[in-house]
Amino acid sequence: MGAMPVGDLAWWLGLLFGAAPLLCLAAYHAADAWYRAAFFLAHGKKRLPPGHMGIPFLGETLSLLWYFKHARRPDAFISAKKLAYSSSGHGGDGGDGIGMYRTHLFGSPSVIACSPAANKFVFQSPDSFGIRWPVPELVGVSSVVNVEGGAHARLRGFIIAAINRPSSLRTIAAVVQPRVVAALEAWAAKGSIVAAAEVKKVTFANICKMFVSMEPSPLTAQIDNWFGGLVAGLRAFPLDFPGTAFHRARKCRRNLNAVFRAELDSRKKAAAIKTKEEEEKELESCDVMGGLMQMKDEQGNKLSDDEVVDNIVSLVVAGYESTASAITWAAYHLAKCPAALARLREENLAMAAELGNGKFITHEDIPRLKYTAKVVEETIRMANIAPMVHRVARKDVEYRGCTIPAGWSVLVWVRSLHTDPENYLDPLVFNPDRWDEPAKPGTYQVFGGGYRICAGNMLARLQLTIMLHHLSTGYEWELLTPEAEIDYLPHPRPADGAAMLFRKLAKKAN
Ligand code: HEM
Repeated sequence: MGAMPVGDLAWWLGLLFGAAPLLCLAAYHAADAWYRAAFFLAHGKKRLPPGHMGIPFLGETLSLLWYFKHARRPDAFISAKKLAYSSSGHGGDGGDGIGMYRTHLFGSPSVIACSPAANKFVFQSPDSFGIRWPVPELVGVSSVVNVEGGAHARLRGFIIAAINRPSSLRTIAAVVQPRVVAALEAWAAKGSIVAAAEVKKVTFANICKMFVSMEPSPLTAQIDNWFGGLVAGLRAFPLDFPGTAFHRARKCRRNLNAVFRAELDSRKKAAAIKTKEEEEKELESCDVMGGLMQMKDEQGNKLSDDEVVDNIVSLVVAGYESTASAITWAAYHLAKCPAALARLREENLAMAAELGNGKFITHEDIPRLKYTAKVVEETIRMANIAPMVHRVARKDVEYRGCTIPAGWSVLVWVRSLHTDPENYLDPLVFNPDRWDEPAKPGTYQVFGGGYRICAGNMLARLQLTIMLHHLSTGYEWELLTPEAEIDYLPHPRPADGAAMLFRKLAKKAN
């Protein structure tokens, strides 16, 4: 074989160094040009929010995965946009920045909202932004997270009443503590634990008790397993054939519905022979399922059986991993911040001494734990358990000179508020004292905002406070790998699950 003629070589080199990069550039801008052209045809001179739609088909999903999974710098995904598209250079609402960017993520053309004003606008405009679950059956067709409008307001009223009314929180505070105390004793007996796994177990045991009065058994272990399958399927691509996560999730959902329906039926049979007074007395101290079954709205109507079952499943999905994750993060940060732990311990030992005789704290004692409340808020701020909240534009929506097209996804990027140094000094430092002052308006959206703000936020805070009380008064712990990497997907957590040495304090106060 002879050598390649010089002319051919020059042609190939020209293609490589000239045309190939041009082709890549053209491919990179093709999707953005396509969406802009389609937008121009439909809307004329109106403007899309600033941003870029990424590469064809995949959009910016790979870039997001790179920042979250590979670089482990999730906030750089948004900072890069702020730098690129806000003429003030520091994003937010400054310069041309409107706190919104167009992009293409998770298979949909999308707008990211990431400033206090833009997020507020999305959260508080239910007529403009709704919810869209790829498969409503998985989250529950008649569940509060799936319904909209008047039906949502009605259901939400029932749920808030069942889990946030003082009598519920009082009962919950009392029923969760024996399990917390027993779990902590068991951790100390082991000496070394993976906190994320252990916290999950005790959180689930408490959920079973609070929601349906079930004690740990082979059935609750099975229920836990089904919840795991359901949550995995909610995050999976909806491919429905045997072997896929989505297929398994549908099966898990059916099993969960069946098991809670059986529980509901047996309660209805038992209720049929109760007097009205017995029923009313029970409502004061019953579990969440009992509350949902018995409550009536202003017209005297109760929830249907399907609504009770769908919403019990939704409440477990919403409140299980989130609460467990917050508790794990609290233990993690306190292990790294001995000064905060010392002050937490001092406050809680004083409370334990005041209560005396190893008495449990009550719902009424909690407002007096002022420093503990600051540890709770700081933990939840830093944990960023829900980095973003999903909505969809119901119609073309105008916002500060830009148009969000109907049907586009809207991602309310709440995480970026909590890690922005403009909102929180040294945002990545765990500092409960920052809560001596309230956060700047609109910069604390850990529980979302507007008409869908987390219905269980009081319950989450209550459980975290109770755990902190028993941890700080009775135990000490140290991380085995303090410099362990952080995984950010699907939710932030220490990659080693916060493995730690765990032992009783030399002198236990209660
Ligand atoms: C630290 C723990 C928690 C965090 C960070 C959290 C976060 C959130 C967020 C961001 C939303 C808003 C979703 C949206 O706007 O679409 C939400 C909604 C919700 N959360 Fe939580 N949550 C937590 C614990 C809980 C608990 C313990 C429960 C109840 C057992 C719960 C029940 C709900 C429900 C029912 C909704 C839907 C409200 C609605 O659509 O009206 N959450 N949560």
